[in-house]
Amino acid sequence: MRVLRVKHQRYITAFLSSTIILLLLCFQNSLLVFNYGSYGFLSESSPCACHICVADRGNSNWFSERYDPNVPILLNSNNSVLSANVSRWWKELQSNAGNYTKVMDQLFSLFPDEEHYSDTGPDRCRTCAVVGNSGNLLGSNYGPLIDFHDFIIRMNKGQTEGYEKDVGSKTTHRIVYPESAMDLDNSTHLVLLPFKILDIQWLISAFTTRHITQTYVQVPSTIKANKDKVMILHPEFIRYVYDNWAERHGRYPSTGFLTLIFALHICDEVNVFGFGATSDGIWHHYFDKTLTSYEIGVHAGKFENETLNRLQQENKILIHMGWT
Ligand SMILES: *[C@@H]1O[C@H](CO)[C@@H](O)[C@H](O)[C@H]1NC(C)=O
Ligand SMILES: *[C@@H]1O[C@H](CO)[C@@H](O)[C@H](O)[C@H]1NC(C)=O
Ligand SMILES: *[C@@H]1O[C@H](CO)[C@@H](O)[C@H](O)[C@H]1NC(C)=O
Ligand SMILES: *[C@@H]1O[C@H](CO)[C@@H](O)[C@H](O)[C@H]1NC(C)=O
Ligand SMILES: *[C@@H]1O[C@H](CO)[C@@H](O)[C@H](O)[C@H]1NC(C)=O
Repeated sequence: MRVLRVKHQRYITAFLSSTIILLLLCFQNSLLVFNYGSYGFLSESSPCACHICVADRGNSNWFSERYDPNVPILLNSNNSVLSANVSRWWKELQSNAGNYTKVMDQLFSLFPDEEHYSDTGPDRCRTCAVVGNSGNLLGSNYGPLIDFHDFIIRMNKGQTEGYEKDVGSKTTHRIVYPESAMDLDNSTHLVLLPFKILDIQWLISAFTTRHITQTYVQVPSTIKANKDKVMILHPEFIRYVYDNWAERHGRYPSTGFLTLIFALHICDEVNVFGFGATSDGIWHHYFDKTLTSYEIGVHAGKFENETLNRLQQENKILIHMGWT
């Protein structure tokens, strides 16, 4: 009898704590709306249907100096010619071998050739979760909150299996390059982040001949993904993020930073999860135990972090700090 009662109490405790977590989630959301709503009064004609819109350039000079609504975001056959500037810079990031023009011709006979995401307007309120791979997601219980967004944008090898409670289970877009690619499900957009011509050649090969197995490391000869949902980030967009947002710190922007700015251009509201190092400057992924220091390598982690914080101060993004 006593055992039974203890068990009973445990159930009640478990029930109460999950209710409290749910209430907290709802509370967080209404705070969000409240916060956004109070800004909504300030702008007269809103560029989107959310309470506050990322692309609204009337409410932040700092933002409007950097944000270019006309930059090409994704490659298509009409915008694929690169200016001499961009071409020179991009081809020296990792390697400049290969015939770009030729690769472009092959690309659009294989993958969708569309003008993506030109649907921005006063009737659209698209909410996005940008989900980084930081260990600060562990124990966060953000899963349901993340899955609640219209777009859920993940990057590299950030898996969801086994981590659903903290990272969610849906993925609408995954940003990868050949060295970080993984199998996707049929409903996810593969968004290639090309650092070199060979990356685009790999994408073509992965869906056709499967002959490219090596870049600077070994790469998968093919991956599972829906060919009709493939997109390729525009080299000029990478350069734009470097110039305008990273202000030329580091050699080129990190995947996380590029993904975040990508979201600013295709979403109306951006919530950020799983970004950031631990307090002693150590990066670690929620799905493995590898540790890397913050300021090594080709990216300017510290400057990117400051830009992220500034975007939040300017009410352009909301950073969810996780559990550290
Ligand atoms: C090309 O480079 C020049 C000199 O660095 C710069 O003034 C110009 O803005 C660049 N153009 C583009 C499109 O980036
Ligand atoms: C690249 O390919 C295009 C089209 O296939 C061709 O016209 C051009 O001559 C090639 N360029 C070089 C440098 O081989
Ligand atoms: C490219 O431009 C042509 C002519 O303006 C247009 O008909 C076509 O739909 C465009 N294609 C894409 C992918 O935007
Ligand atoms: C994946 O989606 C495409 C349409 O986008 C469809 O043609 C194909 O049959 C689907 N494949 C699977 C395995 O469901
Ligand atoms: C990133 O910014 C946050 C907020 O200011 C700060 O707490 C954190 O220490 C920064 N991280 C690094 C590694 O600079």
